This record gives sequence, C-alpha cells and structure tokens, in this order.
Amino acid sequence: MPSREEITYFGAGPALLPTNVLNTAAQALVNYDNTGLGLAEHSHRSELATGIVNTAKADLAKYLDVPDDYEILFMQGGGSGEFSATVYNMVSIWVERRKQRILKELGIEGGKEIPEDELVMQLQKAVDEELRIDYLVTGSWSLKASQEATRLVGAEHVNVVADSRKANDGKFGKIPEESTWKLSKNPAMVYYCDNETVDGVEFPEFPKTLEPNGDDGPIIVADMSSNILSRRIPVKNFSVIFFGAQKNLGSTGITVVIIRKNLLPPAVATPAPTLLRKLGLPIGPIVLSYETIAKNNSLYNTLSIFDVYIAGQVLKSLLSTFPDKVDGQQAIAEKKAKTIYEALEAYPESYKIVPDKSARSRMNICFRVTHGGDVDAAEKNFLKGAVSNGLTGLKGHRSVGGIRASNYNSIQLPGAEALAKYITVFAKEKAA
Ligand SMILES: Cc1ncc(COP(=O)(O)O)c(C=O)c1O
Repeated sequence: MPSREEITYFGAGPALLPTNVLNTAAQALVNYDNTGLGLAEHSHRSELATGIVNTAKADLAKYLDVPDDYEILFMQGGGSGEFSATVYNMVSIWVERRKQRILKELGIEGGKEIPEDELVMQLQKAVDEELRIDYLVTGSWSLKASQEATRLVGAEHVNVVADSRKANDGKFGKIPEESTWKLSKNPAMVYYCDNETVDGVEFPEFPKTLEPNGDDGPIIVADMSSNILSRRIPVKNFSVIFFGAQKNLGSTGITVVIIRKNLLPPAVATPAPTLLRKLGLPIGPIVLSYETIAKNNSLYNTLSIFDVYIAGQVLKSLLSTFPDKVDGQQAIAEKKAKTIYEALEAYPESYKIVPDKSARSRMNICFRVTHGGDVDAAEKNFLKGAVSNGLTGLKGHRSVGGIRASNYNSIQLPGAEALAKYITVFAKEKAA
C-alpha cells in the first residue's frame, strides 16, 4: 500500500488536500481544542462554530482581497445547487427592481397603498417581454447551468449569449470572440463558468464586454469551482462568485458564495412568494436563498463546521506560505501548467492537447495520447505507467475520455514536474 508521500493525485475533485491540514483536522475530528468533543459533534450554534465561520470568512476575504461591500456565504448543495440558486435569487432581484421601477412610474411612494392589480399586470408584461437570463456556454458545466435555468424558468427566458461548440467544429475547446456574443438588454444576470473542468477551457482574463458600465450593471455571476484561489480576480466586476470547496479550498460539503451587498437587504428586498406565484415564476427553497443565509451568517440550518474548519486551515496555510497572498499562488499555478503543457508540446506525434491554445486551462490539462494511432490502447498504457510512477487520478471525464491532469492548488511544483517528466519519458520510450 503506498503512503500519501508516494502519490500525486491529479483527480478533478474531490482533490488532494495538504497532509498537514488533514493531520490537524483528524485531531479536531476526535477532540477539538481539548473540549473532549470532536468538531463534527459540536453544535453549529456554539460560539466556537461562529468563531470558525467568521475566521474562515475573514481569511478568504484577506487572501482574495474581497472588498467590504461583499458578503461571504457558506452554503450546501454544491456547485449544482448554485446552478439553481443563482436563477432563483437573480430572477427575484430582477422582479423586485422592476417592481420598484413600476411603482415609481405610477407615483406610488412608501406608505401609500399599492394598486395590486395594476402592478401585477405591468410586472407580468415585463416578465413576458423582457425577463432574460444570459448564459455563456463554454463547456459542460455552463451548459448544465443553462439547462437548469431552462428547466426552472422556461427556454423563453434563457438566452445563450454564445455557444463554444459553434466556433469549434461542434466541440467545446474555445471561447468565441466577444464580438460575436449576443447579450440581452438588462438581463437578470450574465452567467459564465471561469474554468470548465471537463473540457479544460479557462477564460484567460475577465471579458472586456462584461466590464461594469457605471450604473448598476451588468450583473455578472461566475462559477469558479475549479480555479478559485489560483489567480487574482477583479471581484468588483462580479455580482456573485460561487464555488464548491472540494477542488481548491477544502473538503466536499460546503459551497462558497461571494455576493455584492447591493443584492441583499436592505438594498433590495425579496419579492413575496405570492407575487412570484402570480407571475408564474419559481420560488426557491429557503436554504438556497442568499438573503436567508446572509441574515443568519451562514448558520440558518445545520452547516458542517468541520468542513468550514478544513477550508479555514487551508486558508491559514496559504496565507502563511504566500505573503503576497493569491498572487503568490498564481505564479506557482502558472509555472506548474507551463511545465506540463511544454512537456506535451515537445512531442506532437505522441500527444494532442484538446482545447485551443487561446483558452487552455491552467487547472485542468486535457489531452489525448495519439501515439501509434490506437488512442484507446495508448491511453490505457499511459495511465498504467502513470500509476506505477505514483501519478494517479489522470483519467479524463467519462463524457469526453482522454487524459486530464487536474493541477489544483494542493499539487506542489515537484508533483507537476514529476508528471512532465513521465510525459517525456513515455513519449521517448514509444518513439524508440
Ligand atoms: C466548474 C464546476 N461547476 C460545478 C460543478 C458541480 O459541482 P458539485 O458536484 O459540487 O455539484 C463542478 C464539479 O466538478 C465543476 O467542476
């Protein structure tokens, strides 16, 4: 049986966690801080639980330079839960803002009685004619998110701004030119996935077209499940950023939402369920309500404090390793990715990198082993040899096949170098 030190695990998530964090967490699971109780046994309503939540929030804000006008939420339901949560919450906010606009146009000030029938009629017209949610479909995960939106609100309200497959022979692997994007006028949100885990596609930087336009828009929502904490992000450009913890932050079980406070009360109210029902719009489960989770400092219902603790320990370790915070991690992430891509590029007869160079992910490196023509056999061989070199978790996603090296934050530079070396040796042996 191999020890942890003998293995570098490149799985796409759950991913490797630092051994020192796991050792500390293992102790905390049995007896946290000499309390005689393990952390998974302590109440989420206890003072120590609140302390763990607040410290993790503060350290995340510090590491990513999250401005004060943003709130950090710990939620449940994973990235997939956020596909639904973003729709419920952003559609509600769109409706509330529309409602306020209509009331203003009708001259209804606070305290005056609201003409319910007139309001519902005007709102229904706005929903039917103008409610749109915009999706950039650049890979399997943004596609899934857009499909969830269609399931919840209907295809008539979902606008696919761009679909990468149309610009890349029917397959994901490229980000369409911004000049071809078809954005709606004032959509409830523009949604995109910053790093597509399955297809190995990453936005090289924040899209120019989506930059803030001075007033309240556009409302940008991003899934950063697989590249968070690996590069500096212009948080100010986003309304919502979400990510599951299990790739770059911690263990499976918590999902983080970074949300601009102007999308929460008191800046904006949540429309009454009766109103949404009248408009034929979905009412989200209370546990997916950003307002509810924010109001309760993420402790509306039982949250896994143990998972928050692991995330907190990862953040502490990152903060002490990188005095320049996420910039330090970014430099390493780039170096690791470059090392692996260069090894692949050196043997074009043996390897084919899947995505276009313009959109290659630093985090999920997807390639085919083409040597000898029989790709299936070559990939089986490649994987077998990798395992005997202690390089595991390299099999591509079942929907696309091939090889995928998930180069998340807990993979150290020597791990990436070991993979690059194996890529080189394998190609040389085959060529001999
Ligand atoms: C980019 C991205 N978004 C969303 C998800 C879905 O996350 P979950 O499994 O936590 O629902 C994944 C899972 O791998 C992902 O990679």
